[in-house]
Amino acid sequence: MKGIVLAGGLGTRLAPLTKITNKHLLPIFDRPMIYYPLQCLVNAGIRDILLVTGGPHAGDFLRLLGNGAEFGLRDFRYAYQEGEGGIADALRLARDFAAGEKIVVVLGDNIIEKDIRAGVANFFLQSSGARIFLKDVPDPQRFGVAELNGDRLVGIEEKPAEPKSSYAVTGIYMYDPQVFAFIDGLSPSARGELEITDVNNMYIERGEMEYEILDGWWTDAGTFESLYRATRLVHDGGANNVTTTGARGASV
Ligand code: G1P
Repeated sequence: MKGIVLAGGLGTRLAPLTKITNKHLLPIFDRPMIYYPLQCLVNAGIRDILLVTGGPHAGDFLRLLGNGAEFGLRDFRYAYQEGEGGIADALRLARDFAAGEKIVVVLGDNIIEKDIRAGVANFFLQSSGARIFLKDVPDPQRFGVAELNGDRLVGIEEKPAEPKSSYAVTGIYMYDPQVFAFIDGLSPSARGELEITDVNNMYIERGEMEYEILDGWWTDAGTFESLYRATRLVHDGGANNVTTTGARGASV
């Protein structure tokens, strides 16, 4: 399985911090934000990773991360997203890298306390389709929100004013190779982006979406409040998913 970290966008919600750097290079306590999603994949046993970024500061990722040796990566590549096409548009650039394998996608501003090993192992055994991680949160209207019928996931709404559950769709997604065909069939949303929620709903409509409930705390870091919360959680709760002293876990 291959890993993709999506770290594009202009980070306008964090201006002026993002005037002179990429959002994902801002500090979360003692590490640049991008370290956390990378380590999340490494901790799940993934050694082949593509980083998709964009904007005027993309070169700084190369200076920071180089060939990924610090994370014990086997194959570390970069892709450059032109413009602001959204998460699904950024993911489209991973088609050749994925080369027909299943992928685990992590948004560059998503930080978790624990690890996703069990969910990744479940997806490894899943013959086809997709699998996402949900998390019970107090402010679901800020996210994609799961609509559940009993235990069954029946749909996802992107940032609904009246959420149908308190389960946010976290920015950790696992897809089979169909995902690229689904992206090809997308039209831009009202905010002019190709929405990952639309991709996920395509899997749900076909009965090919499974889900996990994420263990431990989860936060994004794309607003001042969530950036502050992420720093506090990492500081107080321990940055135990980040280690620069070497990779943990066996490869998958
Ligand atoms: C994106 C997705 C949303 C998801 C969130 C997780 O939102 O569109 O469905 O819940 O990431 O961080 P964004 O932060 O890009 O607005």
